[in-house]
Amino acid sequence: MAKIKTSFFCQSCGHQSPQWVGKCSSCGEWNTYVEEVIEKNTSLGIGSDKVPFSSNRDKRVVKPQLINEIKHIKEDRIELSDKELNRVLGGGVVPGSLILFGGEPGIGKSTLLLQTALKQPNLKVLYVSGEESEQQISMRAERIGKKDVNCYVLTETSTANIFIQLGEIQPDLLIIDSIQTLHSPLIESSPGSVSQIRECTAELLKFAKETATPVFLIGHITKEGALAGPKILEHMVDAVLQFEGDRNHLYRLLRTTKNRFGSTNELGIYEMTSSGLREVENPSEILITGNTENLSGISIASTIEGIRPMLIEVQALVSTAAYGTPQRSSTGFDLRRMNMLLAVLEKRCGFKLGTKDVFLNIAGGIKVDDPAIDLAVVCAVMSSNADIPIDSKISLAAEVGLSGEIRPVNRIDQRINEAQKLGFEKIIISKSSTGIKAEQYDIKVIKCGKIEDVVRSIFG
Ligand code: TYD
Ligand code: MG
Repeated sequence: MAKIKTSFFCQSCGHQSPQWVGKCSSCGEWNTYVEEVIEKNTSLGIGSDKVPFSSNRDKRVVKPQLINEIKHIKEDRIELSDKELNRVLGGGVVPGSLILFGGEPGIGKSTLLLQTALKQPNLKVLYVSGEESEQQISMRAERIGKKDVNCYVLTETSTANIFIQLGEIQPDLLIIDSIQTLHSPLIESSPGSVSQIRECTAELLKFAKETATPVFLIGHITKEGALAGPKILEHMVDAVLQFEGDRNHLYRLLRTTKNRFGSTNELGIYEMTSSGLREVENPSEILITGNTENLSGISIASTIEGIRPMLIEVQALVSTAAYGTPQRSSTGFDLRRMNMLLAVLEKRCGFKLGTKDVFLNIAGGIKVDDPAIDLAVVCAVMSSNADIPIDSKISLAAEVGLSGEIRPVNRIDQRINEAQKLGFEKIIISKSSTGIKAEQYDIKVIKCGKIEDVVRSIFG
C-alpha cells in the first residue's frame, strides 16, 4: 500500500511545513499547525488539472493580446433583480467571477443568496447546499415567496459529484452554501481543513473561468471576524462581500472588502423581515427616528457611505460620573476620536466634561467612519450636557479639527441635497467648503468657521 503523504498546514494563513512547528514562520500565530493528508488520489482521473467540464460553451482560447485590442467586457455584466447586490458588486455580476460571501452564523447569508436565486426567472440557477436538506431549503423558499423560478437545488458536498451535475444542468449562476462543507475526493483531509478549502476553491475557480459562470461561495467567519480558512482564499476570489449587522437589529449591511470589478466603497442595506430580506432603498428614512423633537442629546449628520449620502442620527448622553473614573463609551463611532472631540470641547469651549460620563450611539446599529459626522457628535454631546434640544430640522456635515475649527468634507453638494430632499430646513457646513453657493439650494446653508459659531447658530 502506498504510503500516505501528509503535511502540516497553518490554519490561520495556510502556510505549509513538512513538520509540526509551534509558531508559524509566515503569520507569527502560535499553535495553528494541523497535520493534513495531501496525497492526491489521481486514480479518479479528475485532478484539478483535468476537471471534466462537459460544457458545450466555447472554451476561452488563452493567447496573449494587445491591451488596446481587448474588447470591453463592461456590457457583459449580468444584472440581478437585487439592486443592492448589483450595486455592491459594481453594477451586476461579471460572468466567470468567483465571489466569496462571508458573515456570522444566522446573519442571513443563505437567505439572501437563495432569495437572489429565486428572483431570477431568466437565469438558470443551481443552489448547492452542504448545510441544509432539500426540505429545509424548500421551506425557506416558501417563506421568501417564489414565482415561476428556474432554480435547481442540490444537496451534495463532493466536488466531483457537483461537477457532474454542473455538466448536466449547465446553470447560468452557481451558489455554494458553504465552501467549508465541500470536500474534494482528490484530497484526503476532512471538509473545512485548509487544504480542502483551498482545493475546492481552486476547482470552482477553474470552473468559473472556463465556463464563464459566476459562482457565489458562502464562507463562515471565525470568532475574531475573519473569514474562516486561509487568507489565500481571499486572494483567489474576485470579490469578497461581508454581510454584517447585529442579529438583534433588523438592518443588515453588505460591504465589499475586495472587488476586482468595482469599487470597495459600496454599501448595500437590507432589512430582515418575516419573508426574507427587503432591500432598503432610502436608508435615511429608517435611520432617523423622527419623533425626537424636544429631546436633548440628538443631532442629525449628513454622511456618505460609499457613494450613498444618508442622514443618520447621533445620540449622546452626558451625565455626572457616578463612580470615581468617568466612563466613556461609544457604539458605531471610534472611541479614540470621541475622546479627542471631548478634549477639543473641554479646551476650546470651556465645557467641563472631565467629571462626566459620556455615552455615544449611532442609531440603527450602523458603524460610521466618515469624518463629516464629527460636528454632529460634538453637537449631540453639547446638547446633552446643557440639556437643550437641537432643532430637529437642522442637519450637520463637517469635520472638527484639534483647535476647534470646522473643516470642510468631501462631496458636500451631495450631502446638502440629501438633507434638502428629506425636508431639513438648515444644514451647517464649514466656512471653507469650496464650490458651494448657498443661494442655489432651498435649504438654508449655514457656514461656520469655529465651534463657537456653531454653538451660536444652534443654541442661540
Ligand atoms: P440564514 O440565512 O440561515 O443565516 P446564515 O446562512 O447566515 O447562517 O438566516 C437565519 C436567520 O434569518 C434566522 O435566524 C431566521 C431569520 N429569517 C427571518 O427572519 N426571515 C426569513 O424570511 C428567513 C428566511 C429567515
Ligand atoms: Mg446558512
